[in-house]
Amino acid sequence: MENTEIKRLQSELIAEIDAAKDLKTLNEIRVKALGKAGAITALSKGMRDLPAEERPVFGAQINQLRGAVEESLQNKLNALEQENLLRQLEEEKVDITEPAKDNKLGSVHPIPDVIDRLTDICVDMGFSVVEGPEIESDYYNFEAMNIPKNHPSRDMQDTFFFTDEILLRSQTSAVQAREMETRKPPFKIVCPGKTYRNDSDATHSPVFHQMEGLVVDENISMADLKSMLTILMRRLFGEDTTIRFRPSFFPFTEPSIEVDVSCPSCHGKGCSTCKGTGMLELLGAGIVNPKVLEMSGIDSKKYRGFAFGFGLDRTSMILNGINNIRNLYRNDVRFLEQMK
Ligand code: PHE
Repeated sequence: MENTEIKRLQSELIAEIDAAKDLKTLNEIRVKALGKAGAITALSKGMRDLPAEERPVFGAQINQLRGAVEESLQNKLNALEQENLLRQLEEEKVDITEPAKDNKLGSVHPIPDVIDRLTDICVDMGFSVVEGPEIESDYYNFEAMNIPKNHPSRDMQDTFFFTDEILLRSQTSAVQAREMETRKPPFKIVCPGKTYRNDSDATHSPVFHQMEGLVVDENISMADLKSMLTILMRRLFGEDTTIRFRPSFFPFTEPSIEVDVSCPSCHGKGCSTCKGTGMLELLGAGIVNPKVLEMSGIDSKKYRGFAFGFGLDRTSMILNGINNIRNLYRNDVRFLEQMK
């Protein structure tokens, strides 16, 4: 092949390369020129048929052609890639001055929220927070709490039994006995957690939450219990809260009281939350029955204790104006969003 023909092939290929608009076309040209069946490859193969003295010159010409075409392909490749990058940057440009989309923040569920609030107040007053098992023995849930088998006071707390001896705890009071067996007085503990009873309506759920408090020391009296609960209630519901103590009965405390607080919705005037009474029943408490102390190995001649236990679901419902306990367990996002 004449050198002029080689030159013409070169300028044809380079013109095609220059005109290529995208990477696909460019690759097609590469294959057409340099691929196995390409024009330049075919020329190199033809060198075999030339007389030996012509080969070096022809070889040099082919090399020059290949070099020029490769360089041109590479330049075009760089240019197309650069173009693509610029186009992409332009298309994907973000306008940082646009207003942001509303970010949805989660919130703490009302039950853990009330547990946090109450335990924070109690920890400030020197209490330790402890937990106990939800699957409990009949002994810790009932017998160690001075509720013997077949005693009528069991009717107050019908729960779910796995066997005659193993049940879902009906009260966090079960943790009292466990802790009294292992701790040396004086001590102050609160134990929040899940509790279970065979009960279900707008204000009762088969699974609910309680928080138990227990203080054991020398010279404990009803005055200590009343002042501690007054501080606790006022810090939770507000300093203007009125507290009422009524005599009551629990097998594990003697004497026993029930504690009411002035309704935080109407401040004692009477409204639908408190059914017009101005007061809300909130918790049970009392001086630990000496029998309960003795059963757990604490010398009741030397030590006395007070205990209190409240329903956290009810407390949360009062704090947040929730009228149906089931809302706490439905996990309806619309409800939870209102709890922020
Ligand atoms: N455990 C009692 C209940 O569930 C509440 C209570 C606790 C009463 C501690 C007195 C002392 O009804």
